[in-house]
Amino acid sequence: MNINIPRGTRDFSPDEMFKRRYVENKIRNIFQSFGYREVQTPTFEHLELFTLKSGEEIIEEIYAFKDKGNRDLALRPELTAPVIRFYVEKMQMEPKPLKLFYIGNCYRYDRPQKGRYREFTQVGCELIGTDTPEAQAELVYLAYTILKNIGLRNIVLRLGNLDIIYAFLENMGIKKNQFRELMHLIDKSRFYELEKRLFEMRVAKSKIKMFKEFLNCTSIDKLKGFIEVPAIDKFGEVIDFLKIFGIDNFEIDMKIVRGLDYYKGVVFEIDAPILGAEKQLCGGGEYELVSLFGGKEVPTAGFAIGFDRAVIALEEEGYVFPEQKIDAYVIPINEKMLKNAIKIVNRLREKNIVADVDLMRRGLAKSLKYASSIRAKKAIIVGPQEWGKESVIVRDMDSGEQIEVKIKDLLFKVK
Ligand code: HAM
Repeated sequence: MNINIPRGTRDFSPDEMFKRRYVENKIRNIFQSFGYREVQTPTFEHLELFTLKSGEEIIEEIYAFKDKGNRDLALRPELTAPVIRFYVEKMQMEPKPLKLFYIGNCYRYDRPQKGRYREFTQVGCELIGTDTPEAQAELVYLAYTILKNIGLRNIVLRLGNLDIIYAFLENMGIKKNQFRELMHLIDKSRFYELEKRLFEMRVAKSKIKMFKEFLNCTSIDKLKGFIEVPAIDKFGEVIDFLKIFGIDNFEIDMKIVRGLDYYKGVVFEIDAPILGAEKQLCGGGEYELVSLFGGKEVPTAGFAIGFDRAVIALEEEGYVFPEQKIDAYVIPINEKMLKNAIKIVNRLREKNIVADVDLMRRGLAKSLKYASSIRAKKAIIVGPQEWGKESVIVRDMDSGEQIEVKIKDLLFKVK
């Protein structure tokens, strides 16, 4: 019987895992260099954690199930709600700002396609306890820095602000309970339907026209021409700090509304155009969840990067990844030399040299072929003649050149 991999999931080969760990390590170092500390939460949570804010509709989009104790659980579709649950349960007394990051698998019942999976990895962070413009700017700068420093050449950063859109909607006489429906239409770029709905909500045609122009604003000054709210000044300060951190290359895009329901204030997205349809690499912004989960309200903001998409974007841009290599492959010439070969490989491994030894008792020619297939840099051939002289043969796998080396000098030669 053939059993296939479940739809929307992937296996990763040793070469792919090497690439993924290489990128992951770089990202972990960047988070740490910004003062963030890593956390981990469980892969499944109480279903309520995700329905509390988003409502029961979200169940359609996630993996929800009952366990043997009849508890309603869900595989996490993202990590913001779990990290805030963790914060409320155990970390509220920690000094602020609290800077937490995570790397973890997420599960969504999405329609699979390139860059969109049912199991995928997010790397992200949550900044708890501050909402100063400089804190917002540092967060955006961090997301941008991660994507640039892992080696992506072409990324596009866009920033929006939900508080300003909400103020505009309120000015048009729209009720708060109608916001969600309208925001959804903006999110999906269904502007014709948006216009129709606003008309049905008895918004004057001139105001609808103004709203459309407002959504197309690309500068703080232009926004000020439409509406006067403190959120615009703060947004302007965030932009100023972003420039001080060193990013000039961004767009203001009021059409960013984000898919999840907990956002407010400054929101942002980073795309990799090379990815086509699933080009969104990163999304984040300010949000509110702490009091919903029973904690004392504090400002919160964060972002998550689609790790799988970041790796695909690197590949598509032609990034040259390092290859996993073995420093030395030790080959006994015959079975009598096997124990000596093991002594040699032990000695190398003790000194942190990446070394392997023939475990199949095959002849020299076949072992050399294998050594080259695993990209060994050197082969160490252990033969009786040289062993008698306390030596081995070291073969450079690229040039084929062989030299006799005293065992006491081997470490130096292999390094
Ligand atoms: P999100 O925009 O839903 O935000 O997801 C973040 C990123 O995860 C996306 O930009 C995308 O790159 C990746 N992603 C989402 N779904 C899939 C999928 N099915 N397959 C592959 N990659 C995917 C959040 O999840 C928020 N929790 C981010 C955040 C953190 N906001 C505040 N703090």
